[in-house]
Amino acid sequence: MRYVTLTDVFVHPVAQKYLKRSGVAHAIATAYHAYRLALNHGVNVDLATKAALLHDIGHYEWYSNGKWDYEKYKQNDIHAIKGAERAHKLLIRLGEHPKNAKEIALAILLHTDSYLPECELKRKPLQEIIKLADEADEEPGGKHHYRKIDDQLALKKIKQLDQLVEKQLQTQKLEDII
Ligand SMILES: [Fe+2]
Repeated sequence: MRYVTLTDVFVHPVAQKYLKRSGVAHAIATAYHAYRLALNHGVNVDLATKAALLHDIGHYEWYSNGKWDYEKYKQNDIHAIKGAERAHKLLIRLGEHPKNAKEIALAILLHTDSYLPECELKRKPLQEIIKLADEADEEPGGKHHYRKIDDQLALKKIKQLDQLVEKQLQTQKLEDII
């Protein structure tokens, strides 16, 4: 059962605000990578695509004198923590099942370890997929955050991915019955 679609999430003003900050094109590309990876690894495509779409919504704008301050960002960034919380709040507000909202929030929390003291993370498959999907769309110098996409095209891609997810969930349901 699917409680919230990618389109529901994408058109929400909170998602729009923060997706635009960290890059709509990157968020959508990451969601498509996550779909493919989830499919290949037998992970829930509904959770994977939503977590990937929202994985960077915790970014803060680190500017000094009108210029992006990478050092400040590196030292102070907690976008995974903030993003996990923001995504959780948004999903619950949209009617997501609390269990799903938690899984998605955790996958966002653990998609990077850049904010953690040195440690070895043991990620679950969904969490690993979000990390890999993000890395698959990464460009040197953080350029992936600035890639542009037309609003109409963005919505079209989100709706197409929704259809792919729906179709996959139907197939899984059929396989379960057989
Ligand atoms: Fe990212």
